[in-house]
Amino acid sequence: MPTVDSEPLRVGMVGYAFMGAVHSQAWRTVNRAFDLPRQVSMVAVAGRDAAAVGAAASRLGWQEFTTDWRELVARDDIDLIDICTPGDSHAEIATAALAAGKHVLCEKPLANTVAEAEKMVSAASAARALGVRAMCGFNYRRVPAVTLMRDMVAAGRLGRIHHVRAAYLQDWIIDPDFPLVWRLQKEKAGSGALGDIGAHIVDLTQFVTGQQITGVSAMTKTFIPERPLAGHSTGLAGGTPNGDAARVRGPVTVDDAALFHARLSDGAIASYEATRFATGRRNAMRVEINGSRGSVAFDLERLNELEFYDGADPVTEQGFTRILVTEPTHPYMSAWWPTGHIIGYEHSFTHEMRDLVEAIATGTDPTPSFEDALAVQYVLDAVSRSADHNASWVDVEFAHEQATPAGA
Ligand SMILES: NC(=O)c1ccc[n+]([C@@H]2O[C@H](COP(=O)([O-])OP(=O)(O)OC[C@H]3O[C@@H](n4cnc5c(N)ncnc54)[C@H](O)[C@@H]3O)[C@@H](O)[C@H]2O)c1
Repeated sequence: MPTVDSEPLRVGMVGYAFMGAVHSQAWRTVNRAFDLPRQVSMVAVAGRDAAAVGAAASRLGWQEFTTDWRELVARDDIDLIDICTPGDSHAEIATAALAAGKHVLCEKPLANTVAEAEKMVSAASAARALGVRAMCGFNYRRVPAVTLMRDMVAAGRLGRIHHVRAAYLQDWIIDPDFPLVWRLQKEKAGSGALGDIGAHIVDLTQFVTGQQITGVSAMTKTFIPERPLAGHSTGLAGGTPNGDAARVRGPVTVDDAALFHARLSDGAIASYEATRFATGRRNAMRVEINGSRGSVAFDLERLNELEFYDGADPVTEQGFTRILVTEPTHPYMSAWWPTGHIIGYEHSFTHEMRDLVEAIATGTDPTPSFEDALAVQYVLDAVSRSADHNASWVDVEFAHEQATPAGA
């Protein structure tokens, strides 16, 4: 059972919409599910609108609220800043928090540009020397089936990796009258489908294979170049404006879809697709890896399962096996329900908070580190540059020495 009299870990969170709600749920749950050396205390949440952030604080379980994130950073009774805002504010909030000696959890993608991400890595590196920890929120690493997939690759069950095939497909902006929310504006989001969902499959495949993407050839496409202005709508819930609002349009300055192929550092070749225009695909992420001894496939819509093909099976019995990843011996699953009782999307965030709290308490570095997230940022940048030059080959600037070693 959780240790109730352990030292508190006092959290302040910035942003309270989609990720803010998901993170709040994870912070509320983590000590109930896992026995941890620190007890999370949800001290305060920051937003920009007093009424809205006040309502969010009571709905999501935060003791206090403020309309200025700088107040959270300045408080002595907060140990960790959790950043759940769009990418344009990540660098400023994270570097201020780290400089103030606060641990930081920052949502993905780490930043909107490589330059910002590099600054964040420098800040995290300086803070690390003082025992302050930083982590980026690539939560899909912590879906038990994905962690198991990584473990199987690391144990050599797939042999030498030849192919990585990854797609992250959504369809929420198919309607040309869907408004110009922040995710469609380069100055707010950095990029479109590429940074929002492409970043996830880049991180996930680098994590699972232990290989870095070394070069890419890419194309991107913006299918709807102008959209109705959005007012104050948030990310995935813009609603469709009507009347005059629908007639005033602004430019979409990011990609609607990104498609690229890549080489990996240990010889594999890979294909990636990230789009918000895959009609009928709401939030479909699929990754398949083929190696010399076997293959493994993950589908987010069946996140408790892994498909495994073992080339060592007798030919008469060969075929893809469905592994139900709910055994207490599977990653993270001993904290949850009896065998066969499945878990969901939100559990990956509880696992993220678990690993972060554990790392802080034990004085170790959590993963994905800001360096790992910078490695993703270099890939996103290479993809954009390749797409800008008619899909010509672009080598990825390397974060090898800094990123977490394979299998960590
Ligand atoms: N890990 C995942 O699977 C996942 C999923 C969705 C979003 N994200 C990431 O989480 C971050 C937030 O995305 P979201 O979907 O929650 O967006 P959202 O629009 O739902 O919420 C953004 C929140 O940030 C607040 N905000 C915006 N600018 C601010 C500022 N300057 N100061 C204070 N508050 C500010 C907004 O008021 C809102 O509460 C992004 O980086 C996004 O890429 C990650």
